[in-house]
Amino acid sequence: MKADDTLPKILTPIPGPESRNWVDRLAERECPAITARRARRASALGAVDDDPIVWAEAMGSNVIDVDGNRYIDLTAGFGVASVGHRNPKVIAAGQEQMNTLVHVMGDAYPDTGRIRLLEMLAKKTGLARAILGSSGSDGVEAALKTGRIMSGRPQVLAFTGAYHGLSYGALPVTGYHGDAFRGPFQAQLGDHVVRAEFGGQIPDLSTIGTVLVEPIQGRGGIRVPPAGWLQELADKTRAAGAVLVFDEVYTGFGRTGNWFAFQDENVRPDILVLGKGMAGGFPISACIGTAEAMDAWGASTGEALHTQTFLGNPVGCAMALACIQELEHVIPSSVDTGRWLMDELVSRGLTVRGRGMMLGIEMQNTLAVSRALLRRGFIALPAGESGEVLGVTPPLTTTQAQLQCFLEALDAERS
Ligand SMILES: Cc1ncc(COP(=O)(O)O)c(C=O)c1O
Repeated sequence: MKADDTLPKILTPIPGPESRNWVDRLAERECPAITARRARRASALGAVDDDPIVWAEAMGSNVIDVDGNRYIDLTAGFGVASVGHRNPKVIAAGQEQMNTLVHVMGDAYPDTGRIRLLEMLAKKTGLARAILGSSGSDGVEAALKTGRIMSGRPQVLAFTGAYHGLSYGALPVTGYHGDAFRGPFQAQLGDHVVRAEFGGQIPDLSTIGTVLVEPIQGRGGIRVPPAGWLQELADKTRAAGAVLVFDEVYTGFGRTGNWFAFQDENVRPDILVLGKGMAGGFPISACIGTAEAMDAWGASTGEALHTQTFLGNPVGCAMALACIQELEHVIPSSVDTGRWLMDELVSRGLTVRGRGMMLGIEMQNTLAVSRALLRRGFIALPAGESGEVLGVTPPLTTTQAQLQCFLEALDAERS
């Protein structure tokens, strides 16, 4: 892809004929609860067709669909493509690793790449030891287990609007659309979670073992808590002898302009959960904590108390190390881009939440706006309980020229 070929190019109606064909095939073979087929529901109502586009290729901030349409991805693929889709250095590291070792035996036999990654994570976070996983929810579950062991108390404080994943351990703590997500599973989820208002009054923590919070809520609507709230939460958590967990699956690895959002406010967690942008696309995550937190587990006696088949996958570790190296120069330059974008949006009279390259534009009808933007070549999703913001969380490498093009499309949609 040439440098000047990074702006949208739409060749067909959206979704195009090839996307439609593939989505019809998908609907036959995938559980229907996964991919939204809005066209079927909407067409019965006579509304617009908004089936998904099917991705064929992605590079940098661009996605090309199976009809050859080129988009700018303002979601970074759910925040994963921090250093751009298919970042050449990250891909090269993965390919090189594939030539030597693709799989290793989790808790039984490590390899050197995993050890190097654990050392790098400790250096970057200032925390001591980690448990690697394959998804954000894996990391959240490892953090919840660590909090339980370290504090000795089962109760967990989690917040309204929080999104921590949908696996069985993460479901009870997820607040965003919580009742709907928990629906049929409620009876299997326990009653150990106490919920408080995100950014609001902090309840009595005397019975709480673990406090789990996103420093900025992502899926919940790019919600930034009031200044000083995280510090107060940290102070009260420590005073109560509870364990403070920051879920930075979304905010981590440069999304907010620092390596981690906890550095924005100088509040240090006992445990940090990382995922998404960690390896530029490979599914890998980490629950990393202080020595005190992680050593609370005690030593393995041969049967690991927590592990999984793909723990510390060598390709993921190699790609994560390369991604972290890329972020060294990508994060500083993204700060200016994020600030410029925020200023541009605010100068248009828009109310914008967030920090760095994690922004949410408050507006009505975000679903319709996101579909209209898709037809203009921009991938953006609503966020928030009622879809009250349009999320803008592009790859940190997205250029001002690409974002300028987005601003013009947004202006056209609003006029
Ligand atoms: C803050 C946060 N935590 C946890 C998760 C769950 O991650 P995953 O979907 O990889 O399990 C997400 C996913 O969006 C997230 O944003």
